[in-house]
Amino acid sequence: MTTLTPVLSANWDRPDSFTLEGYRADGGYEALRRALTMEPDTLVDLVKASGLRGRGGAGFPTGMKWGFLPADNPNPRYLVVNADESEPGTCKDVPLLLANPHVLIEGVAISAYAIRSSQAFIYVRGEVLHVIRRIKQAVEEAREANLIGPDVLGTGFDLDVVVHAGAGAYICGEETALLDSLEGYRGQPRLKPPFPAVAGLYASPTVVNNVESIASVPGIVRNGAEWFTSMGTEKSAGFGFFSLSGHVERPGQYEAPLGITLRELLDMAGGVRKGHELKFWTPGGSSTPIFTDEHLDTPLDFESVGAAGSMLGTRALQIFDETTCVVHAVGRWIEFYAHESCGKCTPCREGNYWMVQVLDRLERGEGTEADLEKLLDICDNLLGRAFCALGDGAASPVMSSIKYFRQEYIDHVTQGGCPFDHRKSTLWA
Ligand code: NAI
Repeated sequence: MTTLTPVLSANWDRPDSFTLEGYRADGGYEALRRALTMEPDTLVDLVKASGLRGRGGAGFPTGMKWGFLPADNPNPRYLVVNADESEPGTCKDVPLLLANPHVLIEGVAISAYAIRSSQAFIYVRGEVLHVIRRIKQAVEEAREANLIGPDVLGTGFDLDVVVHAGAGAYICGEETALLDSLEGYRGQPRLKPPFPAVAGLYASPTVVNNVESIASVPGIVRNGAEWFTSMGTEKSAGFGFFSLSGHVERPGQYEAPLGITLRELLDMAGGVRKGHELKFWTPGGSSTPIFTDEHLDTPLDFESVGAAGSMLGTRALQIFDETTCVVHAVGRWIEFYAHESCGKCTPCREGNYWMVQVLDRLERGEGTEADLEKLLDICDNLLGRAFCALGDGAASPVMSSIKYFRQEYIDHVTQGGCPFDHRKSTLWA
């Protein structure tokens, strides 16, 4: 039986967990002191050896990304923390920033030193004003304590940290749209390559990492790479937040080794809400193909989830019981993607618009069986053909729900509309 591994969430019960004093009481910023005595390249090697993979969803090896910064580029290097968490169901970075902003700031200081950057940005989702206030306050505290700023802890290392609030566009969580937004332009994805590591912010070498990835760095410096690789699986090392939401008895953040299963997590979370059973769930937010009860024992690591036909993504486990209409649920997600499509590329701008129309008419009882093929055809024109991952993300729940629940779609046609009474579901109005 896998147990929880509270590391980033270890102090969340302390009333002062978010203050510098509270963080320091448990050894906070000791990893920074140690890191500043090490060579930057040794730190990059340490993060490589830990096997840490990006916690923002894609799972790209963090140390490898740092290693891609070109040695011969004379421009300044930038570190950008992506705190624009917006994926439906994804809700791990916000509680982490609220409860423990200093672990991120310590991670920023160590990571910036490791990649030889003196300028870091924390790009926070604009809607979460309380989070922005908290992180700004923590940055000020750290600056006053000389943990960031000029001549950090008397070592000669200078680090300026800017907290920047986005303006509420989902697309600005896509790393290159985020960089456009940070530069003051309308946020739209750029063509990759070049990747930000080569030409990012102001066309300079830039590392963009998720909040949880950077917050994992102090622990690795403090405890060593082997400590990290002793958790998780061989290729998906360490631990992470598994965010359980929806029809579950005790929703919340479960910090556990990668490779834990939903069955184990549900045991800890009191199971699916009483009197109901699991129908479908998302392993990594709404942009990953849905899973069903067939997948309760799929280890939640990058490889196993991929082999089972989905993606680990952000580990946002949205749980839906038998009262939920899958067509309705998918329709709500696609409305979101249509609304948030930046419009730069045709497959995403048009594809999402038309998927909303088709799903809506199925719900209203005006659909036909041919609409299923129409949806799959639109997905075929989205998958791998949109400018950024938003297109693939939108196609995923549509295709997977038709794969597992084709009959439910057909019932919408033969029964003259949605056969579900949404008022019985606590989730869907
Ligand atoms: P990606 O696979 O294109 O890139 C992942 C990271 O690796 C990026 O930082 C990229 O610059 C870097 N990278 C990849 N190949 C590289 C190379 N050859 N050289 C240098 N750097 C390289 O994935 P993307 O589009 O950045 O992210 C997609 C993921 O985002 C999805 O899997 C989804 O789970 C997640 N997502 C998360 C959201 C959230 O709220 N946290 C919202 C929406 C999506």
